[in-house]
Amino acid sequence: MDTRPIGIFDSGVGGLTVLAEIKQTLPNENIIYMGDTANFPYGDKCKEDIIKFAKKMVKTLIQKKVKIIVVACGTATSQALDILKKEFNIPIVGIIEPTVEYVKKQKYNKIGVIATEGTIRSNAWEIALKSKIKDIQVINKACPMLATIAEEGRATSKEGRQVIKEYMKPFKEKKVDKIILGCTHYPIYEKIIREEFEYEIELIHTGTTVANYLKENLCKNNMQNTLEKDLEVVYLTKPEKYFKEIAKNILNFEIEIK
Ligand code: DGL
Repeated sequence: MDTRPIGIFDSGVGGLTVLAEIKQTLPNENIIYMGDTANFPYGDKCKEDIIKFAKKMVKTLIQKKVKIIVVACGTATSQALDILKKEFNIPIVGIIEPTVEYVKKQKYNKIGVIATEGTIRSNAWEIALKSKIKDIQVINKACPMLATIAEEGRATSKEGRQVIKEYMKPFKEKKVDKIILGCTHYPIYEKIIREEFEYEIELIHTGTTVANYLKENLCKNNMQNTLEKDLEVVYLTKPEKYFKEIAKNILNFEIEIK
């Protein structure tokens, strides 16, 4: 048994889509969330900067005495996870590995990936998918504007819908019907993405695969909290005007922001 909180971080509100799934799958766990709003967006930054920001987030969460850290950010997972794992003596989980395991179990042989510019540039999804699944076809698409539009609370605006239309074109042309939401901001667009397609699509949420992976691992290592939870707090590195409202839309309840 381990009552220490799970630490989660992202550049902004996106990681809350992962928090929501963790909360549902592991309702007893205490949670500390860090949104690095001072450095948002991560998606257009160089690898060196992403590593620097991610290290800072991990150090802060370790100081807050978390038992495990979830990198609830595709950009940081794709470019900094290996370095974080080497440098820090604490279990760290990213969003790619648990999701690739899910895709492998489903035996899919063609999959779309949408993510930030930095994530697609790193090619981390394609490398991870192809290393685990022989002959899988991967169709990547960078969606540079999506995280920023979501962070500004404009996901359902005309602009939000227009960019989704544009970004979904290659998937429609190639009749792709399974797409990984490779940036944690993207579940905010789920409904709009579905409306773009005339056929049924599966949108794979990294939050779900990460929450299942965490459950299995905490249980295996006897690290679950079986007591009543008493902590759920969000820290931001810079106050953000729309954060609370967007958070409420994602989580369906009000969060405490510090
Ligand atoms: N939510 C993040 C991701 O999963 C970061 C988006 C951004 O800061 O550009 O990639």
